[in-house]
Amino acid sequence: MSAVAGWFQERFYVLNPIIDYLKHKEVPKHRLSFWYYFGGLGLFFFVIQILTGLLLLQYYKPTETDAFASFLFIQGEVPFGWLLRQIHAWSANLMIMMLFIHMFSTFFMKSYRKPRELMWVSGFVLLLLSLGFGFTGYLLPWNELAFFATQVGTEVPKVAPGGAFLVEILRGGPEVGGETLTRMFSLHVVLLPGLVMLVLAAHLTLVQILGTSAPIGYKEAGLIKGYDKFFPTFLAKDGIGWLIGFALLIYLAVMFPWEIGVKANPLSPAPLGIKPEWYFWAQFQLLKDFKFEGGELLAIILFTIGGVVWLLVPFIDRQASEEKKSPIFTIFGILVLAFLLINTYRVYAEYSMLK
Ligand code: HEM
Repeated sequence: MSAVAGWFQERFYVLNPIIDYLKHKEVPKHRLSFWYYFGGLGLFFFVIQILTGLLLLQYYKPTETDAFASFLFIQGEVPFGWLLRQIHAWSANLMIMMLFIHMFSTFFMKSYRKPRELMWVSGFVLLLLSLGFGFTGYLLPWNELAFFATQVGTEVPKVAPGGAFLVEILRGGPEVGGETLTRMFSLHVVLLPGLVMLVLAAHLTLVQILGTSAPIGYKEAGLIKGYDKFFPTFLAKDGIGWLIGFALLIYLAVMFPWEIGVKANPLSPAPLGIKPEWYFWAQFQLLKDFKFEGGELLAIILFTIGGVVWLLVPFIDRQASEEKKSPIFTIFGILVLAFLLINTYRVYAEYSMLK
């Protein structure tokens, strides 16, 4: 091993300072350390997505006539195809769940404060791109539920000025059809992975350069219980998290398989209970609550303003940057979290009754 490492070191000597830095990098240990594993877990599930996605791509056919049949083929004929598909679907959900936990934990610990502002901004962009993955992937099986949910989802911008144009761009025409499938497919397997790789590289480079923060006041109060070496101790602990995540993923994929439903038929009426994936439920509920003249546009505006404020939090919260607690932002975070949880629950409760 050391001979191989030496061989590479002689050729890639420019990287030696980085390797030295990583050998010395330390991560503080304290009672909130648990929350620092979720970024790594998000990364783990993202890697699973890339690997399983590449394998699914060997059999998937992104056309209106063949997409559904190719899913049936993957599920029924390809050796372990059913497992691959289930892992891909579950890992997508777990990844987004991990990212939400990671985002809120870094928010409440005010990890976004100076000098980590761009870690927050790049992270938020990653979350948006991941939601884009979810949205574009939903249509790919070309089943009834996905078809009508995409119809509802792509219609949202219509109420905004110039929105009709945006709807056409999203759909590749006035209605959801084969063109939409091509569009969603190319976004899902080319554009979004490329963008995520770029932003992720920036996010993880910043993680390495700036190191891990400790919650405000912990150092001064003597609450840091020592330091873990990033390599190998913290990474090994991350590895334990990944093993647990993997076990959970396999359990869910085998015990709770996602149904494939029936093939989409654009001419049939929309079935009852059309709803997007759970991570869009909060926005979906907001749109339903604002069903009055001009209400939908108002909901979109409110949501956009909320998103921009959330993105710019590190630049607005000056107190945290001075290492002071900023209770107003903690309250803001609690309100945002409560809004997401309550609205998500409302959609869940309503649709459970429909079943
Ligand atoms: C694909 C998505 C993402 C991946 C793979 C990822 C990965 C990571 C990793 C491995 C760390 C270091 C360990 C940790 O603190 O958990 C980290 C730190 C951080 N991430 Fe992310 N992240 C992602 C998305 C996000 C999102 C959505 C946000 C917030 C909007 C965010 C904000 C941060 C911040 C502020 C830190 C610094 C934590 C500190 O040093 O205290 N990240 N990220």
